[in-house]
Amino acid sequence: MRIQMVFGCLAVVSALAVPAVRANAAEAAPDPTTQREFGAKLLVCNVCHGDNGVPKSAAIPIIAGQQETYLAKQLEDFRSGHRNFEIMTWMANTLTPAEQGPAAGYVAKKSWPAKA
Ligand code: HEC
Repeated sequence: MRIQMVFGCLAVVSALAVPAVRANAAEAAPDPTTQREFGAKLLVCNVCHGDNGVPKSAAIPIIAGQQETYLAKQLEDFRSGHRNFEIMTWMANTLTPAEQGPAAGYVAKKSWPAKA
């Protein structure tokens, strides 16, 4: 029940955000036939990690502009269970193994947020 609500909210928020960033995220897709799906998956990250790189809460880490290899390792660790945080395990599992690296690359190319 709670999970469905969370995903319902994520869907609404990411639908609103689509026009602004879809093109860039989709271009990073490993497979041209799944560009739209890949772009949509990456938009969901913004709900928590922030579309301008500033996370929505202090408990959520900044990922924009982090080292690509570090991000890829964290995603793999969430996926494999070496790093355990329920929602990030779901998020990592929505990415196919082939999408994990490009997702890390896309996030790494974003700018680290400027100080407020
Ligand atoms: C519902 C909120 C939420 C969403 C959506 C979300 N994350 Fe996260 N993410 C978190 C939280 C919270 C953490 C910190 C987990 C912990 O404390 O171990 C985290 C951690 C991470 C980390 C590790 C960062 C570090 O510095 O160690 C990466 C990488 C990451 N997320 C990538 C993503 C990607 C890519 C997506 C989209 C596919 C995504 N996240 C979607 C909440 C979210």
